[in-house]
Amino acid sequence: MDEQVVRRLALLIMNNHLIYLNHWSSDDFDKFYLKVIEKKSNFLLKKNDNPKGFKGQLAYLFFEPSTRTRMSFERAAYLSGVSSILLSGVAGTSLEKGESIEDTILNIQAMQPQALVIRCSDEVDLINLANQSEVPIICAGWGKKAHPTQALLDLVTIKEALGEIKNKNILFIGDLASSRVVSSHFELLPRMGVNIGCLGPKEFSVARPPAFKINLFEDKNQALGWADLVIALRVQKERHSGRQNELNLNEYINQYQVMVNDYLKHQERGLKIMHPGPINWGVELSTQLQPYVHSFILNQVTNGVFTRSVILDQFGGWQS
Ligand code: CP
Repeated sequence: MDEQVVRRLALLIMNNHLIYLNHWSSDDFDKFYLKVIEKKSNFLLKKNDNPKGFKGQLAYLFFEPSTRTRMSFERAAYLSGVSSILLSGVAGTSLEKGESIEDTILNIQAMQPQALVIRCSDEVDLINLANQSEVPIICAGWGKKAHPTQALLDLVTIKEALGEIKNKNILFIGDLASSRVVSSHFELLPRMGVNIGCLGPKEFSVARPPAFKINLFEDKNQALGWADLVIALRVQKERHSGRQNELNLNEYINQYQVMVNDYLKHQERGLKIMHPGPINWGVELSTQLQPYVHSFILNQVTNGVFTRSVILDQFGGWQS
């Protein structure tokens, strides 16, 4: 069966999970956005700094490495007043004894946490697991397929910075083929009326062209001139094995790195630069750009905590 059809069928029975974003409407996101900003304001005013007692427990299952997503989900659980249990990596787990990831997930699920937050590779059939699961599965990064919470925290950051997001031009620069962040944004951004542009090495362009129009650029100056906001993507060397075309880092830097002068040309009209992290400074973004853009990128990370806390409230079945 066609993959799109399989995804749509899966969605019909997946309202309790967060894996794909292609059913979110603009109204859904606006309501979500207000909750995130309310949570952030309450925190900054210290109204919600020390929730007492646990309302439930989550299980975090991270089969791929993570810093931001894992730690911000832990902070988010604290803000939502829930505790968490964690499995991180293979060492010290029964995966070392040959237990499969699927069996591991089913066993943790049998311990009856209120939700499972999972980061895994493309090889894991997350849809099948979600369809069998009695508790919500929240995707914390699935191979190259999906990273819904990153897309949502990015959109919160974009809306906070730009106000109205409809008709804004958002440009993705870099290793599009390896990016699960792009996969989730391609589900969400067109539904918000955002225009999408892409720039990157041809052999690393998006794996499957989407059904909607994207503006494909070949020239960095032209692309940056078009954009209201740039999301630079990490060069994911670890996902390049088995590819016919090696990515030449020097050529990449020459053509696609966002440099200080690129930024200064557009700073006055308010061009914003984001990056989901981790950043290879000196590759996707020049090291000299750091003082100009890093605080905005770190605000993405801050927003990740409040975004994920609202997600936990919605999908975990407790109220903050
Ligand atoms: N952006 C992101 O997913 O970062 P981590 O891999 O560190 O979680």
